[in-house]
Formats: sequence, C-alpha cells, structure tokens
Amino acid sequence: MSLKSTTNIIPLPRFGDDHLAHVYSMFPLEIVDAQGVFLHTNDGRRILDLYGGHAVAALGYGHARWVEALTKQAKSLAFQSNAVNVDVRRRAAKRLIEFCGLGLDTVFFVNSGAEANENALKIALKITGVKKIVAVEGSFHGRTAAAGAVTWGAQKKWYGFSRTPFDVQFIPRGDLQALEIAIRDDTAAVIVEPIQGVAGAVDMPKEFLQALRHRCSEMGSLLIFDEVQCGVGRTGYPFAANMYGVTPDMITTAKALGAGFPVSAILLANHVASELKTDDLGTTFGGGPMACAIVETVIDIIEKERLMANVQQRSAEIRKNCVTGPIVGTQGAGLLLGLRTSRPAKDVHADLLKRGILTGLSGDPNIIRVLAPFILASEHVELLRAALADIGK
Ligand SMILES: Cc1ncc(COP(=O)(O)O)c(C=O)c1O
Repeated sequence: MSLKSTTNIIPLPRFGDDHLAHVYSMFPLEIVDAQGVFLHTNDGRRILDLYGGHAVAALGYGHARWVEALTKQAKSLAFQSNAVNVDVRRRAAKRLIEFCGLGLDTVFFVNSGAEANENALKIALKITGVKKIVAVEGSFHGRTAAAGAVTWGAQKKWYGFSRTPFDVQFIPRGDLQALEIAIRDDTAAVIVEPIQGVAGAVDMPKEFLQALRHRCSEMGSLLIFDEVQCGVGRTGYPFAANMYGVTPDMITTAKALGAGFPVSAILLANHVASELKTDDLGTTFGGGPMACAIVETVIDIIEKERLMANVQQRSAEIRKNCVTGPIVGTQGAGLLLGLRTSRPAKDVHADLLKRGILTGLSGDPNIIRVLAPFILASEHVELLRAALADIGK
C-alpha cells in the first residue's frame, strides 16, 4: 500500500508550535503530496481521498491539463484587475454560462464561497429595496457577516458580529406552508442550497424548490441557489438547478469551479444583472487571469472527459454496493453523498481512515460525507465497499 519511505516523518505540530490559528478540528494526517485520487502522508501511507479537501479537488490531484493551464497563464499574464479587459476572463464567463445552460447570462467572479454569497445577498437587497432574507434550516453559506447571518446555528455557535446586516427568517426544510408565510413583499431574497452540504448531503425535495421559485416570482423576491458545494458537475449535472429543473435568479458557486485554485462566481439572470451599475460590486483578486484560465480549463475537462457521466455512474455504484457494514442508507446526489451510519459517524470515519480511506464528517452525527473527485473509478468504489464490509456493523 505504501508508496513513500517512512524515514522522513514530520511530527504533527502542537498548539503554539506552528504559528497557525488553531481553529480547526484536524484529521490525524500530514499530507506531503497527492496524485489522482490518492494522498501520500509523511509516514508513508497512501490514502484514498473521498473528501477532496471539502469538495474542492474535483479533478483529483496533478491533472496534467489543470497544471498546464495554470503554468501557461502564470507565464503569460499572472494578474490584471477587472479595470482592464482580459480575454481569458471573457472566455471563462462565456464558458461558464454555456455550461450552465439555464439562461442566466452574466458572471461576476470573486474568490470564495462566502464572498459569492455576500455579493449575491447584497445585490438582492440593493435591487429589491426591501430588507428581509429567508434562509433554510440546516444551511451553511459561509463565515462572513452576511453569509454567516443566513447560516443555520451560526449566531449561537460562532457568528461574533453584534448583529446581522439584515433581518433573517429561517424556514424548515421542505415546509411548503412555512415558505408561503415567510416569503412576502418585504423579502429581498431566499437563499438555499439545493443539496445541503455541511448538513450531510441533504437533498431538498423538488416540490420545495419549485414552490420557492413560484413564491419568489409571485412576491418579487430573488431566488439564490448556493451551489458552492453542489455545483459544477458534482451532482452529475452542471448545477443542481439543472438536475431539479428549477432556475433561480442567481447561482453562487466555488469549490469544483477551480478544482484547487481559489475562485468563485455568481451567475446572474439578465433581469438582475441589468440593474447593476458601475461601482455596485468590486474585488481586487476576483476574475484574475489565472483563476479564469482554470475555470475555462476545468469546464473543458469536465465536458471532454465526460466526468458528469462518471459522477453519475460512481454515485450509483456507491449507493448500490456500499450500504454494508456500518452503513444503513444513503442520501444526496452524484458525488455529494451522505452515508448514514448505524453508530457514530466519527467512529466509522476513524475506522475508514485506519483502512486508508479519507471521508468527511458533517453536521449530522450519523452521516459520513463522500465528496470524491469526479475521476473516481469503480476500483476505488470497491475499496470503499471492502473497507466498510471489513469494519462490519
Ligand atoms: C454551500 C456552501 N456555501 C458556502 C460555503 C463557504 O465557502 P468558503 O469557505 O469558500 O467561503 C461553503 C463551504 O463549505 C458551502 O459548502
């Protein structure tokens, strides 16, 4: 199993030793490099990565075309701001709009999921002129002031700001009656993850998303799909919006969009984009040439290598074959799957890691998250099945 020598072991840092803020609960791993779907650790282990660094490593590691695109762009023009025209930025926007195929027609590039949501919420408040945002219980939208305000449970756990920048009302997932009551003419926007990632790959019922669309149109509120985690091929469709057949007014996306390079985007319907004026939005780094070269290349790879079909096939295999050992059911879509565990997910997570497989945890203590690279093969699914069977109930 081991690919690396075990002689160069780097000890894991202790609090205070490494000059980093210790705000994460850490996996007991030190990664030194990675190729394809495998991580290599400092103690010589090879780990099958079904977590992809919080769903980022959509193409796995070291994809030759990804590396080439980044290198080429770095050599020719590493950076210029949005104040000058750069062809690769226009190409990336066109490619993203065509990939999405839902009729949204404008892109604003930023840098992270939270920043994309922050801007989408700001746009909604500005355009509608009203003050309330409706969000869904269980949601995660990021850690900045606006994104954190619409994140379920944030204010109790970590929010930190003295007040939210707007009024927020949370509605229960799937509750058609609650959405009718909450979304009124005082509502600027509804923000929803079509599949809640951090909550444990919880897919929203189709009727719920359809009803949100209908009610938002009725009340003049904007519908924002947060596809930071579930977008760009992860469900086996360009966006979860395509899978559900529901078109929002804005989609925010990140993670798989750069497949390891930090980039995020807001896709806007024309009736939203046409309201924007000079100076309404801005960013220094967003839409930089390297980020845009990567967006263009990632979409090209997803399409040319038929990775969305692969995502759907591997997803079907996992759902069919991996309900074994401690796994009693599955939820989610594509390679954003939640595997329901019969005992605490953290124990199953640790048992899998001992067997060389890294998965993710979630807000649900009985869900293991699978956020595997889109290049996953059947043989890797078989490794997961065998490890789960070996762990047993
Ligand atoms: C659905 C969703 N929205 C927003 C975010 C925040 O993204 P970032 O950490 O890039 O700010 C995340 C991060 O996990 C996410 O899953």
